Amino acid sequence: MEHVQSDALVFFGATGDLAYKKIFPALAAMSKRGHLNVPVIGVAKAGWNLDQLKARARDSLEKHGLLEEGLFSHLCELLRYVDGDYQDPATFQALRKELGDAKHPAHYLAIPPKMFSVVVSQLGRSGCATGARVIVEKPFGRSLESAQQLNSTLVTNFDEHSIFRIDHYLGKGPVQNLQYFRFANMFLEPIWNRNFVEHVQITMAEDFGVEGRGAFYEEAGAIRDVVQNHLLQVLANVAMEAPAMADSESVRDEKTKVLKSIKPLDAEHVVRGQFRGYRQERGVAPDSHVETFVALHLEISSWRWEGVPFYIRAGKHLPVTCTEVMVTFRRPPAIWTALRPAATAFRFRISPDVAIGLSALTKSPGEDMVGERIELIAASRPQGDEMDAYERLLTDAMRGDPNLFAREDYVEQAWRVVEPVLGNVTPIYQYEKGTWGPTEVDEVTPPGGWKNPVVG
Ligand code: BG6
Repeated sequence: MEHVQSDALVFFGATGDLAYKKIFPALAAMSKRGHLNVPVIGVAKAGWNLDQLKARARDSLEKHGLLEEGLFSHLCELLRYVDGDYQDPATFQALRKELGDAKHPAHYLAIPPKMFSVVVSQLGRSGCATGARVIVEKPFGRSLESAQQLNSTLVTNFDEHSIFRIDHYLGKGPVQNLQYFRFANMFLEPIWNRNFVEHVQITMAEDFGVEGRGAFYEEAGAIRDVVQNHLLQVLANVAMEAPAMADSESVRDEKTKVLKSIKPLDAEHVVRGQFRGYRQERGVAPDSHVETFVALHLEISSWRWEGVPFYIRAGKHLPVTCTEVMVTFRRPPAIWTALRPAATAFRFRISPDVAIGLSALTKSPGEDMVGERIELIAASRPQGDEMDAYERLLTDAMRGDPNLFAREDYVEQAWRVVEPVLGNVTPIYQYEKGTWGPTEVDEVTPPGGWKNPVVG
């Protein structure tokens, strides 16, 4: 089963936002590469029929500039639709029928997290889980305990090799490159540690808000939405040791070890913010304390990183959309009085474009030994060159390749780290749209300040 190709793809939440924004484009890209030749069954409770689903798929592809008539008709030949309530066993009997001869379907749950357990249990009871894989969207649970409960429902119906926990950041080429670049270039290893690195900053900024997802966001907030998963994954790639081998378990072992070395977050090192106007969004409580911004500081108590502060910052309605990692090195001793020793840094940009830069100091023209900062750009290319994360992950899950999916022990460690600051443990400060968060963010500021990404 481990390497058997899935012979049907079922996606729950077929009429929803994620399907529109990510899944239809991924399906089109998979078809284009010749990777999709099995029935694709959408499931939702919307009172729709198959023609409506096809119209929605066309609309999505048009909107994303991916509509090619030949490919679209190929996708339409594969598409099926089951309409029904997830609580109702009849929905799953209809699905069982639609699956026909398929022996190894992949069930993708692109639905609100609170529905995961219901659907998984129904898949089990209806026989749809037999020989099947399940792909679960993030966030995996809302806390350590709920993640464990969800996992126990999953393992009752599927074996661990058949469970694929999505974190789409893992499907992003530049996130994989953090690992590749570190271990493929020997020159980094001698300086990639507490002796040379002063601190690390990770920023995930978005210049837009919750975009109609207010009800989902109320259940999540920035810590659950992107820190517990995407940004801890980025951090793990920056901080992990070289794996013993390149196989998925060795890599996932090393990432889990990084999280095990992090003490649970301390409320004193977390600042939460909410953009002004969030409470007026559809689906948001008028007195909501959910954070749309967070800045935090943590430490990794390991041989390599003890004493090096790591900072994470994420937010909606910030000045730009950009995800970037800055690894700042310690300052040299001052030799020339005119040269104020300055920190140099590695910069890894993950989006919107892909870049690796090394800032350095060179002597300015003239008689004096005065320096100026320059940046050596090691790589720079538009993100469009990369395979889309969802295409990559769906293709891998259907092949049974677990490498780019989160393992249960990793997910639990990530919850353990963020758990003390979930909910309203820390105050929530308002900030204006288009700013870098509330002024109180100064309480969690890296040495030398936050490096705000410059885009464009
Ligand atoms: C999702 C979050 O997981 O990631 C969103 O739920 C966020 O809030 C999105 O906007 C960002 O992903 P990407 O790939 O568009 O940068």
